[in-house]
Amino acid sequence: MERALLGPGLEVSRVLTGLWQVADQERGGRALDPEVAARALHPHVDAGLCSFDMADHYGSAEIIAGRLAARRGNVQLLTKWVPEPGPASAEAAAAAVDRALDRLSTDRIDLLQFHPWSYADPGWLDNLFLLAEHRAAGRILHLGLTNCDAVHLDMAIRTGVPIVSNQVCFSLLDRRAAGAMSRVCGEHGVKLLAYGTLAGGLLSDRWLGRAEPAIDESLTWSQMKYRRFVDQAGGWERFQALLGAVRRVADRLGVSIANVACRYVLDQPAVAGVIVGARPGKRSHIEDNLRLSRFTLDADARRALEAACDALDPIAGDCGDEYRRPPFLTASGDLSHHVTHFPAPWPATLGGGVARVSTGTPWEALAGYSRAVRKGDRIHVSGTTSSHAGRVIGGRDPAAQTHFIIDRIDGALQSLGGSLEDIVRTRVFIRDGVDWEPVARAHGLRFARVRPANTLVRANTVDDDLLVEIEADAELS
Ligand SMILES: NC(=O)c1ccc[n+]([C@@H]2O[C@H](COP(=O)([O-])OP(=O)(O)OC[C@H]3O[C@@H](n4cnc5c(N)ncnc54)[C@H](OP(=O)(O)O)[C@@H]3O)[C@@H](O)[C@H]2O)c1
Repeated sequence: MERALLGPGLEVSRVLTGLWQVADQERGGRALDPEVAARALHPHVDAGLCSFDMADHYGSAEIIAGRLAARRGNVQLLTKWVPEPGPASAEAAAAAVDRALDRLSTDRIDLLQFHPWSYADPGWLDNLFLLAEHRAAGRILHLGLTNCDAVHLDMAIRTGVPIVSNQVCFSLLDRRAAGAMSRVCGEHGVKLLAYGTLAGGLLSDRWLGRAEPAIDESLTWSQMKYRRFVDQAGGWERFQALLGAVRRVADRLGVSIANVACRYVLDQPAVAGVIVGARPGKRSHIEDNLRLSRFTLDADARRALEAACDALDPIAGDCGDEYRRPPFLTASGDLSHHVTHFPAPWPATLGGGVARVSTGTPWEALAGYSRAVRKGDRIHVSGTTSSHAGRVIGGRDPAAQTHFIIDRIDGALQSLGGSLEDIVRTRVFIRDGVDWEPVARAHGLRFARVRPANTLVRANTVDDDLLVEIEADAELS
């Protein structure tokens, strides 16, 4: 089995074994016997498929893989922390690391991947800063993200968080990760861990020529999730055309549809590995998946696959958007399995018919201003920079700073009942000598649909490190 280096001291098998499926097997509350399930995974380790992907919410998966690793050694344990949105706390981060260490029966987690729910709330960055402290203390070997989009992966890295990987959906059905995400990974040397590569098994010979299944509990959770991707990509008939095209490539190469689907993603430049889901004790696909190392996709095969993918509708947006906005491409079609509510990023105070939001910077109190003020249906957001928690978010990169500022404005608006969609005017101040174009492009990316009136000026802003300042006015409809 091919291997890839994710970061110093952490080499993984390029086909990783995913254990979200354990939570599905435990659907209804009946936990798997961890000893039996761990034993069922021995053949994976024997075959060199010895890197396991888990999460805090994958049922007993962490416990099972911990038992396996304790017996076998040379097993890599990758897990995730997916806390509900809300303010970060040192206690919660420490408890999450403790719990994972305990369930994995280890004293150091090989890779801890963080899932950000909302960029409008800087709690996602605060949590990364806390996890970086645990990494520095040796309790985590490496930090990763999951379902993070390109803009925010870039932002976190430029802020100094030592991220080695981002786990995202990447398949013949969903090529979002091939765009800006792969460019950001290339620039920073970050690796992608791809999931959904087999669309829960739909991208395999078993489903070629079969009738469209309803999205209901007769499917695995994984199939329910990717049936929604099929709908977004143009429906079952067009998906069958994709399967047919992949089968023709597979016929010529003497391999399976699943092999071609995995090899296509493994060959993408930013991809370190594909995470293939396994159901311990159920059908094993080890033999078939081992064939991946024994063939290559030639130019004709690659051309045929690109053409087949181009015939589908692209999945809209960037990586992870399916967890942040409709249509939610999750097993349940919403976030009910994950989130109870999204708290307002900042508390609003009311007085004299005016609502105000402060974001906790020292200067809001000292200079006597609020981040945002709402009077009637209008919200005015003060000049906002990329300073947060004593740091400059985005480093010296004007585009990354601009994105954080827009997130901060979004958070202030949300706290007062508005959103970025309500903005009718922005004013952008760029520090003398700083290139204006990346700032304008970042503004363009975020406001492409909203298109507020805008002014962009050069200014001698008050801090050498804060390259950009933006103020905004919104009118609620
Ligand atoms: N970060 C995230 O948000 C996120 C989201 C989803 C998944 N993941 C990770 O990715 C892992 C994979 O999950 P997934 O939902 O994306 O599923 P997947 O890997 O696309 O599909 C897994 C299913 O494919 C089938 N399969 C595997 N190898 C095969 C082969 N060679 N030929 C035919 N069928 C084959 C098996 O189905 P049968 O068991 O029916 O045979 C298996 O259960 C998860 O366990 C998890 O670790 C992460």
